[in-house]
Amino acid sequence: MIILNRCSPIRQILRRCHRQAVENSSNKINLIAYLGKWPELEQQEFRNHMRIITDFISDPEEQQLHEEIEPYMSRLRYEFDHWDDAIHGFRETERKKWFPKNREILERVRQVAFDGAVMPYVHILDLAPDGVIKPHVDSTRYCGNTISGISLLSDSVMRLVRTDAQRYHQQSTGSATEPELKGSEADAAYRHQPEASLENNFYADLLLPRRSLYIMSHTARYNFTHEILAKERSEFQGTPVPKTRRISIICRNEP
Ligand code: OGA
Ligand code: MN
Repeated sequence: MIILNRCSPIRQILRRCHRQAVENSSNKINLIAYLGKWPELEQQEFRNHMRIITDFISDPEEQQLHEEIEPYMSRLRYEFDHWDDAIHGFRETERKKWFPKNREILERVRQVAFDGAVMPYVHILDLAPDGVIKPHVDSTRYCGNTISGISLLSDSVMRLVRTDAQRYHQQSTGSATEPELKGSEADAAYRHQPEASLENNFYADLLLPRRSLYIMSHTARYNFTHEILAKERSEFQGTPVPKTRRISIICRNEP
């Protein structure tokens, strides 16, 4: 009997990364690929402010979160209408009250990612298999220095591309200029889409395994766009990462 490819692509990547990690005699599995020419200081700073915790929730916990969300979510329609918007092929909601078991999970997020200070409304984003989150930066008007997300149902690849700091300022310090807003007004209010080209630039690809938690803060949150690669382009270091329907549970802190 010949069994080819017994491992899912994500397992293969994790294995390869694990092997590399062992070879490097470091116990950290590498889920972040640094691409382009990174200035050393920028990379150091980025490493401190972009974390991925694998297996943050267990299989039963994933199921239990999904079960709470699904009855409401399945009644909404995926939005594919506004191509200008930062997110395409999605439905979303906000939730404040959770079943006790799920509240426990969110409490863990609060402790690990926010040192206790998180906004009470949790954002739930359901991305269709054909859905895509295009490069954007969350508005500083509605969100503080940290964004965290638990990924349910699918692995995915998130790309963070350095924005042009000279041309894009979004800090609410008063001295900054407002970035050019694209997309519908409502969308632009929450998500800005500054230019961030890959050419002559540096960026990072993040492998976000199903059931992981990412924590994006400070420089990673302000100076880089973030996006979820469409299923046709979903690969990590050359290995395809199949993306199906993905639900993310996103917590943010106060601006
Ligand atoms: C957003 C966003 C990321 C995710 O909703 O602004 O970037 O993990 N979501 O779904
Ligand atoms: Mn965002």
